Amino acid sequence: MKIAMVGTGYVGLVTGTCFAESGNDVTCVDIDQKKVDMLLGGEVPIYEPGLTELVKRNAQAGRLHFTTQLSEAVADSQCAFIAVGTPQGDDGSANMGAFWKVVDSLAPILPDDCIVVVKSTVPVGTNRAVSERLRELTGRVCDVVSNPEFLKEGCAIDDFTKPDRVVVGVERPEPAEVLKELYKPFLRTEKPFLSMGLESAEMTKYVANCMLATKISFINEMANVCDGVGADINDVRRGIGHDARIGFSFLFPGVGYGGSCFPKDVRALAAVAAAHKVESQMLDSVDKVNQAQKTVLFSKLQRYFEGDFSGRTIAIWGLAFKPRTDDIREAPALVLIDQLLAEGATVRVHDPVAMDNVKQIYGDKITYWEDQYAALEGADALAINTEWNEFRNPKFDLMSKNLTQPIIFDGRNLYDPAKMRDHGFHYEGIGLR
Ligand code: UDX
Repeated sequence: MKIAMVGTGYVGLVTGTCFAESGNDVTCVDIDQKKVDMLLGGEVPIYEPGLTELVKRNAQAGRLHFTTQLSEAVADSQCAFIAVGTPQGDDGSANMGAFWKVVDSLAPILPDDCIVVVKSTVPVGTNRAVSERLRELTGRVCDVVSNPEFLKEGCAIDDFTKPDRVVVGVERPEPAEVLKELYKPFLRTEKPFLSMGLESAEMTKYVANCMLATKISFINEMANVCDGVGADINDVRRGIGHDARIGFSFLFPGVGYGGSCFPKDVRALAAVAAAHKVESQMLDSVDKVNQAQKTVLFSKLQRYFEGDFSGRTIAIWGLAFKPRTDDIREAPALVLIDQLLAEGATVRVHDPVAMDNVKQIYGDKITYWEDQYAALEGADALAINTEWNEFRNPKFDLMSKNLTQPIIFDGRNLYDPAKMRDHGFHYEGIGLR
């Protein structure tokens, strides 16, 4: 099948590359010449394990192309995917500027039977509006399919090639059949292809992310209560998780969720609810709990140092909002850095891949250390924000040698508190005993 992929961000690039890998002829198009040049040179502008090799292989095989020309990408295509960003606007709702520009540019060049597939996360009602807009501009009925993505950064290729389900929203069955064929190579293990109405598919994406965000805010609040009453959240997690109705997944307490999806999708769905005069008390609370949780390490440090950070140096391990990505969008570490700097502390940071992105924000206000142990030299305490694997079994002796005091505030509960006490550390996690 010949496919056009509009937008070479995270979703577009992964989706386009994986479709090429399954034998389709994919042209990815982006208005950013620099990005396209990079991709043409075999370089991938984002950090995603395995993606560079896959891009190179498919480009060399002549199945994956990159261009800035929309008309070149769309010509003869059977499907035109829209995967441009819909970042959060000032009022919490999605900023749809780039998206509508693409729809309007597509209209005059769309081949007759080409299906427009919307991958971007868009407010409920957008797909129907796209269908109407295309009818207005082209004078004919164009098939518009909502096809939400459920990729996780850091394992996007695996998520794409082994999805739990594929969801499409359609107005009539025929385009769903085309999409089913396209996804067939990835649904070999009897995972379902779910076809539904446009609005239901749009809601599915938001509800999935909001449910997951709710689990995280819930367990974070429970961990804070555990801290208060002297219970251990890990024991409680085990205690509840064996109930199959609750389960174990996505119930790890931490410093709050970040990234490009959860924070913006929770607020966007709240905005959708408000627009339909539905009060979204749950969603508002999930967001509020999460914002508070991003300050949890700072509060613990503040309590320990009795509110006095003058002359203090704090080391931070982990800046990305989660491991295996260099993404720092809405990362809790940024909130901690801001709070520490505002209190006059000196900040030394280490992250395996996200330091360049953080440098663009803080410049020389903080120092960056390629070596995780060097980051600790002369620091009064270590605060851990991201559960990178390289932090899981560190050289504890070297850590206590480099820190001026053996103090660790762990926002990801990486270590056993009893063992840490044996190692001579003052160790505090999130809801740990
Ligand atoms: C998420 C969804 O998982 C994915 O399906 C959707 O398409 C996009 O949004 P992503 O943002 O890549 O993916 O990250 P994810 O791995 O889901 O983690 C999100 C955040 O939740 C991270 O900040 C992570 O640290 C946090 N988290 C996750 C917890 O704090 N505790 C958990 O138990 C799980």
